[in-house]
Amino acid sequence: MAKNQTKKVPKSSSPLIFLLHLLSVGLTCAAYSLPDKYFINCGSDTEVTSGNRIFRGDLNSDSISFSEPSYPVKNSSQLPDTLALYQTARVFNQSSYYEFEISSKGTHLVRLHFFAFSSAINFYKAVFNVSTSHPFFLLHNFNVQNSSHSPVIKDFFLSITQGKFRVRFWPQETSFAFVSAIEVFPVDPLPLSFIPDNAQHVSPIGIKTNSYPGIHSKALRTIYRINVGGPMISQENDTLGRNWIPDDNS
Ligand SMILES: *[C@@H]1O[C@H](CO)[C@@H](O)[C@H](O)[C@H]1NC(C)=O
Ligand SMILES: *[C@@H]1O[C@H](CO)[C@@H](O)[C@H](O)[C@H]1NC(C)=O
Ligand SMILES: *[C@@H]1O[C@H](CO)[C@@H](O)[C@H](O)[C@H]1NC(C)=O
Ligand SMILES: *[C@@H]1O[C@H](CO)[C@@H](O)[C@H](O)[C@H]1NC(C)=O
Ligand SMILES: *[C@@H]1O[C@H](CO)[C@@H](O)[C@H](O)[C@H]1NC(C)=O
Repeated sequence: MAKNQTKKVPKSSSPLIFLLHLLSVGLTCAAYSLPDKYFINCGSDTEVTSGNRIFRGDLNSDSISFSEPSYPVKNSSQLPDTLALYQTARVFNQSSYYEFEISSKGTHLVRLHFFAFSSAINFYKAVFNVSTSHPFFLLHNFNVQNSSHSPVIKDFFLSITQGKFRVRFWPQETSFAFVSAIEVFPVDPLPLSFIPDNAQHVSPIGIKTNSYPGIHSKALRTIYRINVGGPMISQENDTLGRNWIPDDNS
């Protein structure tokens, strides 16, 4: 007998699906080598190696472009090696974008890095949205909290078609946007092969409703990435540059 569904499930205002990654990293050690595109050190003309990736400065990259008006900001004091990627940032006072050429259709990892260093510009005051050309809204009214003295990193899995792909920054009125580093690279077939394309839809109060098809064609944002029963794994030791937190504090 069909169940009588009386609860209305609030429609999410954005196409984001929130996922808990509970996969052991042991699963991901198949022969996969990271492509060399795109790893961008924003607001910089120098190359920085972070983990297994080489981030090229956006000022002298011929493979990507960004729209004006925007300008680079540099922290003039030398940061420790672990933070070398965050020595610079690009600031946008108006809506602007980075543009990438995508060579083949498929799932891509889009990773945005934000690091607020003290400078003439107070990065903590930046409030902005981030969207992509496909179109997905990645971040709404995003703001780096003053309490965080470490980089804020946001990971998204997106299904992208071949051709030009833009990541657009929309500053709120009277504010501005910034970004420290951007990664855009194909991850097919990993790790989406571990995520079903069709899942049970669960509402915020925990009621299971209809099945939810077509997950792979949505934007998937990582909320937590937990190495269950294992230690913390930092991006240096993960094939795709991901950070995994442990599930206990011991
Ligand atoms: C952009 O906005 C920042 C922060 O409000 C401000 O300090 C800076 O002067 C502005 N730059 C330009 C070129 O308008
Ligand atoms: C560079 O960033 C660090 C870390 O936020 C900060 O302590 C330092 O004051 C900054 N230096 C300059 C010149 O902005
Ligand atoms: C961050 O917060 C502290 C205390 O809450 C404050 O003193 C400091 O000025 C703030 N820094 C910025 C850059 O807003
Ligand atoms: C940013 O997103 C919020 C929430 O969806 C929206 O209200 C706001 O108008 C957007 N701002 C810009 C500048 O796009
Ligand atoms: C990476 O893994 C190696 C070997 O397990 C470990 O010694 C090293 O501390 C790890 N690096 C980081 C940054 O976690």
